[in-house]
Amino acid sequence: MNLVFLGPPGAGKGTIAAKAKDVYKVPHISTGDLFRANIKNETELGKKVKAILAAGDLVPDSVTIEMVRERLKEADAKNGFILDGFPRTIAQADALSEMTGLDAVVNFVLAKEEIIKRLSGRRVCKSTGRTYHVLFNPPKVEGIDDETGEPLIQRDDDKEDAIRNRLEVYEASTAPLIEYYRAKGLLVDVDASKSPDEVLSLMVKALEK
Ligand code: AP5
Repeated sequence: MNLVFLGPPGAGKGTIAAKAKDVYKVPHISTGDLFRANIKNETELGKKVKAILAAGDLVPDSVTIEMVRERLKEADAKNGFILDGFPRTIAQADALSEMTGLDAVVNFVLAKEEIIKRLSGRRVCKSTGRTYHVLFNPPKVEGIDDETGEPLIQRDDDKEDAIRNRLEVYEASTAPLIEYYRAKGLLVDVDASKSPDEVLSLMVKALEK
């Protein structure tokens, strides 16, 4: 199954991908996670993109497209993938269509007020990327990762100014992909306002059709 997860920041793409990868037995490839791993490991790429991510702007297409092209060549992506956060521009979508075919593009639909609640309450484990929410998905012990015992942090781009910018960037650059993929007959809308298990189940049923 070759899937793209599309949707505004905080719609739950990463949360649902972490579950859906076991359903479809394909890797979850998040460009945001790939950039954050490079920043954590202080690679050349990480140094280049650190300030861009913190501000909530988009990394240049050329850099992002090459990173995804290399990732899709890895053995685990031979039988399918879930691409989370890519493509985010029409140029990225055109480049992806030259790399591979797609079975569907899942569009996670969520109201703006809900997006802001989800992003401002998100906490993550820096080393594993595991994601929590202070109200909707709290860890067993406040502020601590359930498995590693490490302290949870708030992403730099989950601060108020960066959230506002990310929503604007999404509307300007990424939302046009909804019509781009609808016109190709690939778009599947999913109501992302329910609990993660309900959203997963809605998506699986919609994809079966
Ligand atoms: P990225 O990491 O992709 O950020 P994003 O698209 O803004 O997505 P998020 O990770 O914020 O949200 P999500 O939809 O995965 O939600 P989540 O599951 O965490 O990208 C970060 C940055 O990298 C970009 O700003 C850009 O700089 C760069 N970048 C990445 N890709 C790029 C590209 N292609 N081109 C250029 N630049 C790129 O959930 C959010 C919260 O809600 C969590 O706390 C979660 O616990 C909670 N939650 C989730 N689902 C539910 C639910 N159903 N009910 C209640 N709570 C829920």
